[in-house]
Amino acid sequence: MKAMQVIFLTLLVVLVTSAQVSEECPTPDVQANFDVSKYLGKWYGIKKVQNSFQKGECSTALYSLKSPGVIGVLNSGLLEDGTIRSAVATAQVTNSSEPAKLEVTFSQASSSAPYWVLSTDYEGYSLVYSCSDIKSGREYAWILSREPTLPQETVEKLEGILSSIGVDVNKMLPTKQDEAYCSIMHQ
Ligand SMILES: *[C@@H]1O[C@H](CO)[C@@H](O)[C@H](O)[C@H]1NC(C)=O
Repeated sequence: MKAMQVIFLTLLVVLVTSAQVSEECPTPDVQANFDVSKYLGKWYGIKKVQNSFQKGECSTALYSLKSPGVIGVLNSGLLEDGTIRSAVATAQVTNSSEPAKLEVTFSQASSSAPYWVLSTDYEGYSLVYSCSDIKSGREYAWILSREPTLPQETVEKLEGILSSIGVDVNKMLPTKQDEAYCSIMHQ
């Protein structure tokens, strides 16, 4: 009986301690058996947690295999003046036991950030989460789609996953993808 009490108290202390460091990034489940080869190609941005580095509407992400284990990233957005702004990056898996956890390095900024695929069916939707420091606001998320639109129930399902790990989905903004406004990006 005494031993049980000690175990219980120890558990309680561990739980209380972990509650105190809750400002650290969560470590959500990621897409099981992630297959990056099925993930390559073009994705459209549907909704995202607001960020300062991604400019423009009609955003697209193009992923290609550069060399074994290295993915080329080309992010593009349409600015209000009609020009296309692009950012080039590479993405790599850092631990082969966790293939859905990539690290993206932007060539301009020479900074890197996590790119975790929380959920994807490869052909329809993808939910991407990136957290490097919650306290300084470096927590982002993107809902991507193979088409410029995504069914509302899919968006809600993915937002449910984000809510469950503590992301305030009210902070997510839709990305403009209307056919007329974005025609230059949809070719
Ligand atoms: C790689 O991931 C596995 C599974 O999550 C983990 O057990 C292992 O410690 C990780 N290796 C490194 C070097 O982080």
